[in-house]
Amino acid sequence: MTSRETLARRLTKARDRTLRLVEFDDAELHRQYDPLMSPLLWDLAHIGWQEELWLLRGNDPHRPGMLTPDVERLYDAFENSRASRVDLPLLPPSDARMFCATVRNKALDTLDALTDDDVEAEFNFGLVISHENQHDETMMQALNLRTGPALLDHGTALPPGRPDVAGTSVLVPGGPFVLGVDAVTEPHSLDNERPAHIVDVPAFRIGRVPVTNGEWRQFVDDGGYRQPRWWSQRGWTHCEQAGLTAPQFWNADGTRTRFGHVEDIPADEPVQHVTYFEAEAFAAWAGARLPTEVEWEKACAWDPDVGARRRFPWGASEPTSAFTNLDGDALRPAPVGAYPTGASAYGAEQMLGDVWEWTSSPLRPWPGFTPMLYELYSQPFFDGDYKVLRGGSWAVAADIIRPSFRNWDHPIRRQIFSGLRLAWDV
Ligand code: AVJ
Ligand code: FE
Repeated sequence: MTSRETLARRLTKARDRTLRLVEFDDAELHRQYDPLMSPLLWDLAHIGWQEELWLLRGNDPHRPGMLTPDVERLYDAFENSRASRVDLPLLPPSDARMFCATVRNKALDTLDALTDDDVEAEFNFGLVISHENQHDETMMQALNLRTGPALLDHGTALPPGRPDVAGTSVLVPGGPFVLGVDAVTEPHSLDNERPAHIVDVPAFRIGRVPVTNGEWRQFVDDGGYRQPRWWSQRGWTHCEQAGLTAPQFWNADGTRTRFGHVEDIPADEPVQHVTYFEAEAFAAWAGARLPTEVEWEKACAWDPDVGARRRFPWGASEPTSAFTNLDGDALRPAPVGAYPTGASAYGAEQMLGDVWEWTSSPLRPWPGFTPMLYELYSQPFFDGDYKVLRGGSWAVAADIIRPSFRNWDHPIRRQIFSGLRLAWDV
């Protein structure tokens, strides 16, 4: 059982982060930075509304809440497309903040009153922590798309990389491993990570570290964006139609724009802001392929000497800045080789943190999938056009990431903090 103190601390940490992301004037909070993203103000009240529904209303929308039915409908993600949210009569920032604070105070009272073995309540609190932190990352994607003088600074310092690791790989011998997790070992795991089951995986090699900007520059200079031979048919159609020539936020003069700052592109930093289609083309150009998500999870979590999963790639210790770049303060990925102590049993580094890594896998349920309290979290997306991303970016909260965590998006999306790691058959 995660202690009530730990849950309260994680709730507060997520909320502090959310509030820092809306510390702007009212006009700023109403802005739509891009049709792909919501105004920051929408995310704020949506976070509070989901928390109220899950923790205070027993997930029953018919049980009256603090908002009127007309108002709460504004914050239903399935009722309102992201592009349309800027036109909604959203709660003013002061009302939204007040609503979120009131919900949170009641939620903390509920938490206080729990017994230590209420497993279901523990899960629900974990869901709220994950949901809020996931929206915080989404808000960072929005802020990165914002035009105008920078609102955020350059980000905190990161450890140096090791120049010799880019382009190297590690071997993962063939054999079975345990894919996914269960409530007993990972009580906060979400529905799509369960149940744990045995999968046999043929031997493969996987990149020791993610693909870097320097490697991506070679792909650009070699005409990678002009040669259909590297691209899938769908990928090439998209490349032509969208006029792709480089990762998003790379400028023609060799600089990039990051949270409003124009700067040199660090060659040893993992590339980010590429679509699945670009990742697939790069891999073909490099004589490699993308890993499947099953291969990725084995390389990340399996300990072949013990024949069991590790909680984290490096072992049982909680994620800290000694192992990974998480929690969003850096505002960018760390250079490759920055976390040798974070290596998995097979020697793969930076599996958690830095960039989301595209895999070749479409989002599908594991056998025996059962939807959780938030039934619409995963299930509506299983049959859609989504590819799985693994590992979490620098913007993901350490409190919610695990080797089994599955993210997904359309293969044309790249405002997300997405990069890749290569794989090879052996
Ligand atoms: C798991 C990141 C794809 O943002 O659409 C937030 C997370 N779901 N609120 C998303 C989510 C509902 C989801 N992703
Ligand atoms: Fe949501």
